[in-house]
Amino acid sequence: AAEKTLILIKPDGVKRRLSGEVIKRLEQKGINIKGLKLMKLSKEKAEKHYSVHKDKPFFNDLVSYITSGPIIAILAEGNSAISVVRGLVGATDGSKASPGTIRGDFSISIDKNIIHASDSVESFNHEYPIFFNSSEILDFTYGD
Ligand code: CMP
Repeated sequence: AAEKTLILIKPDGVKRRLSGEVIKRLEQKGINIKGLKLMKLSKEKAEKHYSVHKDKPFFNDLVSYITSGPIIAILAEGNSAISVVRGLVGATDGSKASPGTIRGDFSISIDKNIIHASDSVESFNHEYPIFFNSSEILDFTYGD
């Protein structure tokens, strides 16, 4: 069934000019883009986005990294989009992610791992309002 997911191209992905590569992979898989913006995240928004990790030892590094430079936020939709996009993204640790996945092909680290994608409907519902308001999510069909 049609599902929405929230994708972030993290500061390392933007800096390394991998945004086109990431979008190309989403498009060639058949994922539809309904919202997209370049932005610099505030500390408050970053802490909210990563609130499930607030007690983890890496929380402060995570927040300072995701706020260190521009990111690209993408709201995408497609059949089983959450698991499909997680499959395209690959395992969290780039040094363990399979070749052929975005992290497997472009990252060798657990923190600078190019991309974030929602891991569940609950996560998506928590995440997307941090990045998009309703007027920024286009309601249209691609005709496929
Ligand atoms: P992301 O999908 O954005 O969600 C949480 C992020 O925490 C994850 O990608 C990693 O980049 C980052 N991270 C940093 N250190 C760790 C760690 N030890 N375990 C899991 N995630 C980590």
